[in-house]
Amino acid sequence: MFRRSLLMFGAAVATLATGALANNYLGLPPLPVPADNPITPAKVTLGDKLFHDVRFSSTGTVSCATCHDAQTGFTDGPRSVSEGIEGKTGTRNAPTVLNAAFNDSQFWDGRSPDLEDQSQHPFTNPVEMGLKDHQPIVDIVKSDPAYQKMFQEAFGVSSDQVTFAHVQKAIATFERTMVAGNSPFDQWFYGGKEDALTDQQKRGYELFIGKARCADCHTIEQTHASFTDGNFHNIGVGVNKIRDDVESLASAFLKAKRTTEEVDVEVLTNPKSSELGRFAVETNFDGLGAFKTPTLRNIELTAPYMHDGSIKTLEKVVEHYNNGGVTNPGDPVSDFLAGGIRPLNLEKQEQADLVAFMKALTSASIPKPQFAAAPAAPAKGKAKKNTSRKK
Ligand code: HEC
Ligand code: HEC
Repeated sequence: MFRRSLLMFGAAVATLATGALANNYLGLPPLPVPADNPITPAKVTLGDKLFHDVRFSSTGTVSCATCHDAQTGFTDGPRSVSEGIEGKTGTRNAPTVLNAAFNDSQFWDGRSPDLEDQSQHPFTNPVEMGLKDHQPIVDIVKSDPAYQKMFQEAFGVSSDQVTFAHVQKAIATFERTMVAGNSPFDQWFYGGKEDALTDQQKRGYELFIGKARCADCHTIEQTHASFTDGNFHNIGVGVNKIRDDVESLASAFLKAKRTTEEVDVEVLTNPKSSELGRFAVETNFDGLGAFKTPTLRNIELTAPYMHDGSIKTLEKVVEHYNNGGVTNPGDPVSDFLAGGIRPLNLEKQEQADLVAFMKALTSASIPKPQFAAAPAAPAKGKAKKNTSRKK
């Protein structure tokens, strides 16, 4: 069980020293922080504001927080797939940004290495924020007095020195503080608090690490639990949608990839390409229909589930695994299914116990971004409310 050693991809490791986060940290791995982008309060405040600014979309209506809303566990639940500018829909379910700081890679297919890199993509994706390039963002922050002051405080740069890389660093830093541990599970497993879990949840834990084999991929280690191995597996979700045209699709994709590098646009706008999963990144057939193991922390808050949002409840997720990687009994089993995904023969009671255990992974307190609650200072010219879009 405790077999995965932590990958740090060359980043300096820091544990947050601030008191506010310390309480919330029980059970979490060391926080990877890049040496060239240390966490400072001024950067966090700036990143928070940028994350919530709807002006950085072509329509002036969509911010990062539109799809990663604190009210719904930093996702856009109950949507299955995200909706960006002008109601355009993508192909994938928005993962939470809570604890994304610990991910070995970002996105369902891991096509982005870290938070700094990831943050550039939504702005220019045609079904998300729809900008042609990043220049409008730089223009806005350079001419907005509130931002001028904040970039000065965060990076010591005057407005004419601000670049898009500063924007990326600030957003990533804000996200690095959106971490949440100290769930009942953490209090029980790492904190020694015997009554933090119910008897049913304790039975669920035994199944999770034992008969149901969940912890093979959703890992728990001796000192912390990220509930992900950081790897990519085909567990039989979505891949039936491309069952009959895997080969033609894969070769068309390979050809397209040679001529253009727009993997981000292709997988989020073409529902079939999306199902190629990790293949779109590594172009290796092992990755066909494989997606990143997501963390299960705070999973109760982030329905619906899976890369395509196709499974609505935790009960149904457990049924999917119990059926051996088939959501509806009778559906064909994927040819590329990960080893280890096979019928589990769990009793109804055992399935309920597993669900109860997953509900013990909800953090005692979830960090609240400050700019989500209060309208930000009006920007020069148009005073647009800086909160996420109302549904
Ligand atoms: C229109 C909705 C939408 C908007 C706007 C949006 N995202 Fe996302 N976000 C998604 C979806 C959908 C995914 C998954 C895409 C994929 O995996 O291919 C995602 C993935 C992510 C991830 C990866 C998390 C993980 O576990 O792999 C991070 C981090 C993230 N978004 C941060 C941001 C930031 C920062 C912004 C603003 C610059 C932003 N998002 C804007 C919908 C959105
Ligand atoms: C072979 C590795 C593997 C095993 C074993 C495994 N999972 Fe997963 N799990 C994954 C992957 C990969 C995904 C994402 C799949 C996708 O979206 O196509 C996932 C997704 C999930 C999700 C949805 C998460 C979200 O954010 O949408 C839940 C809940 C879950 N698994 C619970 C479990 C439970 C409970 C078990 C044991 C019965 C289990 N998993 C066993 C790899 C695994």
